[in-house]
Order: sequence, then structure tokens, then C-alpha cells
Amino acid sequence: MPEFEEVEKNGHLRHIVTINPGERVSLCRCYGSKTFPFCDGSHKEVHSNVGPLVIQVPADNPKKNE
Ligand code: FES
Repeated sequence: MPEFEEVEKNGHLRHIVTINPGERVSLCRCYGSKTFPFCDGSHKEVHSNVGPLVIQVPADNPKKNE
């Protein structure tokens, strides 16, 4: 399960999500999720044309050692 932390920087709250190789995460773009920054499906009730940003990290990520 991806982990996240909230960090305040320059007066703005940032959500930093750590995704490990082989993991997939759906991030909320509608700001309606009760589990923000992760999508919980609430966008279906809040917006009809906005869905999550889905990120999948390959299990064998050739860039991880660069
Ligand atoms: S709940 Fe916000 S995009 Fe899914």
C-alpha cells in the first residue's frame, strides 16, 4: 500500500505519496475523497467528468538506480 505524508512548505500543504516498484495508486483529482489524496470513488457523486489520476510503477523499474 502506498504511503503518504503531509508536509507544509511555504504556507502550502503538500501530500507526498511514496509508491514502491510494482504498486499502483489512484490519486484523487476532484478533492471529494474522504481518503484524500487517494481516490475513494466519491468523484462519481461530485463530478461527472473528473476521475482519479492512476499511477502504476513497473515492478522492474530500470530508472530506479539512475
Ligand atoms: S474521489 Fe476524487 S477522483 Fe475519485
